[in-house]
Amino acid sequence: MSTALVTGATSGIGHAFCRELAERGNDLVIVARDRARLENVSDKLRARHSVGVEILAADLSERASLQRVADRLADRERPVDLLVNNAGFATSSSFLKGDLAQEEALLDVLCRAVLVLSHAGALSMKNRGRGAIINVTSVAGFVPTGTYGAAKAWTTIFTETLAHELAGSGVSATALCPGFTHTEFHERANLDMSRLPQYLWLEADRLVRDCLDDVRAGKVISVPGVQYKVIAGVGQLIPHGLLRAVSGRAASRRRTKD
Ligand SMILES: NC(=O)c1ccc[n+]([C@@H]2O[C@H](COP(=O)([O-])OP(=O)(O)OC[C@H]3O[C@@H](n4cnc5c(N)ncnc54)[C@H](OP(=O)(O)O)[C@@H]3O)[C@@H](O)[C@H]2O)c1
Repeated sequence: MSTALVTGATSGIGHAFCRELAERGNDLVIVARDRARLENVSDKLRARHSVGVEILAADLSERASLQRVADRLADRERPVDLLVNNAGFATSSSFLKGDLAQEEALLDVLCRAVLVLSHAGALSMKNRGRGAIINVTSVAGFVPTGTYGAAKAWTTIFTETLAHELAGSGVSATALCPGFTHTEFHERANLDMSRLPQYLWLEADRLVRDCLDDVRAGKVISVPGVQYKVIAGVGQLIPHGLLRAVSGRAASRRRTKD
């Protein structure tokens, strides 16, 4: 039995991590902004799995709130064995037409929060000689897809570097790179996904189980779904200019605000 801290725990992929980890008998520290929703998730997890659930309501785009989560990870009395940096969102506007404050908040949540929490979690786990960090990034980081894709590319490279630095310490770092997954993510971002072919959709529960298998197998990059393993492999063979043109056109079609 161990304790996992999951950010963005109330919906989608983060919620699926919480259900799966609770099912496996882990206690949880759950993080998101909406306290009422955290309490609801906590009540259901406790009732169904008889695990301990601690709530940390925090907006990870705010430095002071982020520090409260980092301090929890550094707490020696209550060690956290698995950190899942999952919280995130996307914007629907193009960079130049959009709100710059939103773009900054995006980087704060997708990059700065991952940086700060990975630092606190990795130091504390390394001192104990055991633990794992999962940073939820995206296949969007493999192609030019705006600020979001750039942030996810940063997270993937950062996690690879962290994994290298932690090698031999008993602590692992894994970048989980999902493709399109059924969650609240696209609706919250006001993205029109109606034209996306069915075969490109992933389910959060399956993706989480596959990721935990990859962590156990010591993989640094986890790409769930055969379709995305193929796309990621083929993508490396396509000339980058062509990739840029295709992904740019697809992104414009999904935007509903421009
Ligand atoms: N769905 C996809 O197709 C897909 C594909 C690849 C990667 N991803 C990545 O997967 C991760 C999870 O996304 P999802 O699809 O599960 O989205 P989701 O269903 O919209 O869930 C997002 C979660 O993050 C929390 N959150 C958002 N902003 C936050 C903030 N400022 N501070 C703290 N918590 C915040 C939300 O709770 P509150 O609103 O209460 O804070 C919610 O619990 C993200 O990093 C996303 O980029 C998603």
